[in-house]
Amino acid sequence: MTYINDEIIEKVKESIDIVNIISDYIHLKRSGSNYIGLCPFHNEKTPSFTVSDTKQIFHCFGCGEGGDAVSFIMKMENLDFPDAIKFLADKLGIEIEVTSKIDSNYKDEKAKTYEINKEAARFFYYNLVNNTAPLEYLRKRSISSKVIRQFGLGYSLDSWDSLYKYLKSKNYTNEEIEKTGLIGKKSGNNGYYDKFRNRIIFPIIDTKSRIIGFGGRVLDKSMPKYLNSPDTLVFNKGNHLYGLNLVNKYSDRKRILLVEGYMDVISLFNNGINYCVASLGTALTEKQSKLIKRYGDEVYICYDSDQAGIKATLRAIDIMLKLDMNPKIISLPEGMDPDDFIKAKGIFEFEKLFINAYNHVDFKVRILKNKYNIDILEEKIKFTTKVANIIKELKSPIEQDGYIDKISKETGISRDAIEREIKGNNTIKKKSTFANNAFFSKENIKPIKSILPSAHLKAEIELVKLMIKEKDFFDYISNKLDINNFSSVECKFVYEQLNIIYKDIENIDEEVLFNKILEIPNLDMNTINLIFENNSKYKATDISKIIDDLIKTVILNNLLNKRKEMLTKIEELEKKTRSAIEDNALKKLCLDLIAINNEINLNN
Ligand code: UTP
Ligand code: MN
Repeated sequence: MTYINDEIIEKVKESIDIVNIISDYIHLKRSGSNYIGLCPFHNEKTPSFTVSDTKQIFHCFGCGEGGDAVSFIMKMENLDFPDAIKFLADKLGIEIEVTSKIDSNYKDEKAKTYEINKEAARFFYYNLVNNTAPLEYLRKRSISSKVIRQFGLGYSLDSWDSLYKYLKSKNYTNEEIEKTGLIGKKSGNNGYYDKFRNRIIFPIIDTKSRIIGFGGRVLDKSMPKYLNSPDTLVFNKGNHLYGLNLVNKYSDRKRILLVEGYMDVISLFNNGINYCVASLGTALTEKQSKLIKRYGDEVYICYDSDQAGIKATLRAIDIMLKLDMNPKIISLPEGMDPDDFIKAKGIFEFEKLFINAYNHVDFKVRILKNKYNIDILEEKIKFTTKVANIIKELKSPIEQDGYIDKISKETGISRDAIEREIKGNNTIKKKSTFANNAFFSKENIKPIKSILPSAHLKAEIELVKLMIKEKDFFDYISNKLDINNFSSVECKFVYEQLNIIYKDIENIDEEVLFNKILEIPNLDMNTINLIFENNSKYKATDISKIIDDLIKTVILNNLLNKRKEMLTKIEELEKKTRSAIEDNALKKLCLDLIAINNEINLNN
């Protein structure tokens, strides 16, 4: 059997994108926040196989099969676990080395660090339950013995070397103990001292229940209030979240709440909120945000309500937005943190805060409102510019539009002013790729919608929608209609883009396409919105007939337009005294008119 070390397994698991992996086997379509497709493990005609991008799992509601990317490959390729990992590693270009001596040393060292951490945590716990001062401190903070056990809290004695001595008595070497970061070398190479002294201890536990580090709080007002383990072989602050082990165990992953402190997580958990994590005394990292994204569909941030907390919230929002997350912000009364709030008002009041959570845009705008006095013209201008910058960052134009409206109403600043501010910035930043395309030059874009019969526009829109949805539809339709058959400029642009995109990929990212189309100046937003509106209403069974009918409508319209042009020309020629050449042209036009009339009759 293949042997693969844990590092590689973790690396593979971290690098996998389940949607990518499964897409190699079946066609997946986006549906809300998930993807759906026909289950490869049982026979079905309507899709009940769902894949969650955020949770990185699949589940079939038809046959009950489910799991992560590795279990998918195991089942699909009929492989055991190590071979599935190997298979995926190959795909991801991750090298699987034969376990070398260095690797196994490294693995041993890590295992030793976990082991010593566990031993230390036991020692801290023992100290806590046998000492009145720390117990009294926790009691005052309403922490029950049950919570103490759940979080494995402890106490480091008011001594310079009790932990060091304890660990030595367990036969660990100085070198091994040093690697945990729990002890430091005394100056002058004169033995070792405990780093955590006279502190409440908060073990930091990973989702595999391994103790990776510690936090420690003083019992009084001395400084520093908290100490944290340094980064070690098994601990990297930016890669972990305090409380994630319990979220992993208990939460249904619908919601996740990010707070600042150890005590906030504990207090919330103590009150039944099992979906709460804290970053570990550092600013939120991208890696931590990715974990948050994985562990909850809805993300809430509730940092301390002070200047530092607000600043950290703004940073966290920006990191999360980059990862396409949509965080909401819970705002507490000035100077409070979640733990204080629950103590003062109770958990029921805290839960109510979720309902009134700010959307990230509202949160930023509210902060700006506090900063600027919009009754003063100069400040109002600054405010508008800042707000415009926030709105500009929103990916969806519909969302943008909604906010322009809302902020205009709230502040009395005209829609137009905000829009101008946004557009002004936009045109500088983005350069349309279409602008260079001669066919789509500005002169060619005329307001065509007024001369389009509405049934026809509808048919064009429906066809474009279908082409966006599925490449098969695109192949079929593009075989029968070319770009000139479409009279709506908006549909032409989308068609043109699809033509380019489908050459490389099977699935259209509608949002990307939508944003691309929006780069084109002077388009009719109504038509664009209709194209991207999500309202597919066709049954799979009658789809091909519907498509044929839609194509017919479009062709018929082309013919009617052509006939109209001919009639105009004929009329013109009939009115004037004609040269012999013009006379011939008129005769030819009349013959063409008869032909086109026949064709129209055939298509009608
Ligand atoms: P806070 O100062 O807000 O503490 O720091 P807190 O969580 O409210 O703690 P209590 O209620 O006073 O006990 C928030 C977090 O910042 C980190 C810790 O992770 C802490 O939980 N921190 C704070 C440090 O790492 N070092 C410090 O000196 C202070
Ligand atoms: Mn606090």
